[in-house]
Amino acid sequence: MTTPMRCTVLGATGFVGRALVSDLLAAGHSVRALSRSAEHRLPERVEVTLGDAADPRALETAVAGADVVFHLVHSLARADFAERDRVIAGRLGVAAAGSGVRQIVYLGGPRPVTATSPHLASRSEVADILLGEAVPALAVQASMILGRGSAGVELLARTARLPIRPRPRWTARRSRPVALADVRHYLRAAVGLAPLRGRLDVSGPETISYHDLVQRCARVLRRPAAVTLPSPLWSHEIAARIAGLASPVPAAVAAGLFASLDHDLLPADVPAETVLPPPPAGPTSLDNALRAALGAPVPAAPAGRSYEEVDTASSAATPERLWRAITGLGGDGGRFPPGPAWALRGLLDQALGGAGLYRGRPDRPGPGDVIDFWTVRSRDDSRRELVLTADMRLPGDAELTLRAEPAGSGSRLRQRVRFTPAGRWGDAYWHLQKPAHDLVFGWLARSIARAAEA
Ligand SMILES: NC(=O)c1ccc[n+]([C@@H]2O[C@H](COP(=O)([O-])OP(=O)(O)OC[C@H]3O[C@@H](n4cnc5c(N)ncnc54)[C@H](OP(=O)(O)O)[C@@H]3O)[C@@H](O)[C@H]2O)c1
Repeated sequence: MTTPMRCTVLGATGFVGRALVSDLLAAGHSVRALSRSAEHRLPERVEVTLGDAADPRALETAVAGADVVFHLVHSLARADFAERDRVIAGRLGVAAAGSGVRQIVYLGGPRPVTATSPHLASRSEVADILLGEAVPALAVQASMILGRGSAGVELLARTARLPIRPRPRWTARRSRPVALADVRHYLRAAVGLAPLRGRLDVSGPETISYHDLVQRCARVLRRPAAVTLPSPLWSHEIAARIAGLASPVPAAVAAGLFASLDHDLLPADVPAETVLPPPPAGPTSLDNALRAALGAPVPAAPAGRSYEEVDTASSAATPERLWRAITGLGGDGGRFPPGPAWALRGLLDQALGGAGLYRGRPDRPGPGDVIDFWTVRSRDDSRRELVLTADMRLPGDAELTLRAEPAGSGSRLRQRVRFTPAGRWGDAYWHLQKPAHDLVFGWLARSIARAAEA
């Protein structure tokens, strides 16, 4: 049971702020918010102070009597954002010290290590200002936060839905996008601890380029394959202007976000999980973070009449090694054998308006994660069983179950393909494909069993 604290949230009406306010209330803390608008739509239990964070008096009223102040304000939509955010940070430091605040928690971006965008430089400057003030400040640093309602996710999803996806050079820059759920967890965790001072990085489990993130987003949305158009002449400004016209994200905000893709945006400070308790179920995988952000649920198990085909293959490897081979399938390093057959299937899928053969997988795939053109439905490490659902265009639902079982001094792979047809087309498809499927899936089972022995 946490001791109730008095929390003030600056930026409570924003993407992160709204989520944080509901978490703080649910944890039994009292919440005061500073809002510029009477139309804030914050919960009734929140005490709202109307005013601007640049106004010292409004700040004093907002932080008076607070134990913890969350600073989630940025002025990115303004041309003078750097100056404005510098002023707000300085005034917040003074107001907090005058009111006996115990802890300031600021949410910003990773510290830029090389060339820097004005947006990132400003976020980092705010951290420096707060860290230099009397009240201990914790700068929680995240690159892209994946959650519903974020401007970054809106841009990603819009790009992923395009039939022709532009590929400016700067989309090759990599970052570690993190789930909103994990950011919320760490912000919550900072309440009630002994005051902390310093920078903590909150990052997701995968390092990925912006371009690949768009592709991954398209896979989670099960969008058809798209043509990628190299766009070397596209500057951030051009892309931001188009985004401003084609999405609800203001061009100034899009420009700031794109400008932060000038270089890799990777964590370089202390990882949050070394100081704060990590999420009990571990970090949210990239695919599941995207699913939550895009409202794309894990495909449900199909119900109804189905066809089944079971293959087994013996291996001299231990069941543990066989299980490692199963869970290592897919992506560039663990292609599904036989490669050419899957490549052909990918082309056919693309021609049918499906996602085609996307190559990708997380390091440790779990439920909801994407592996090539499959999605993990379940993973049971104790039973050594992985259930995948097919994402290619089919007249029905297909499921592939792979299990590693002990057998004598080695192991046996038990592989089951289950197909639930959608009407007569589905039945016809199953029967027509059966000879080719027998060949391909038999080969797949033997190849996994052999790979485990290597
Ligand atoms: N979103 C991400 O992917 C991401 C990633 C890394 C770090 N961050 C950091 O997380 C923090 C929150 O980001 P967000 O995405 O939640 O931002 P957001 O959705 O744009 O919300 C910004 C909030 O700040 C408020 N605000 C702006 N200027 C203000 C002022 N002068 N006085 C009072 N309130 C003001 C806004 O209030 P109004 O409703 O009045 O406009 C709004 O509540 C920022 O520091 C951002 O740099 C975000």
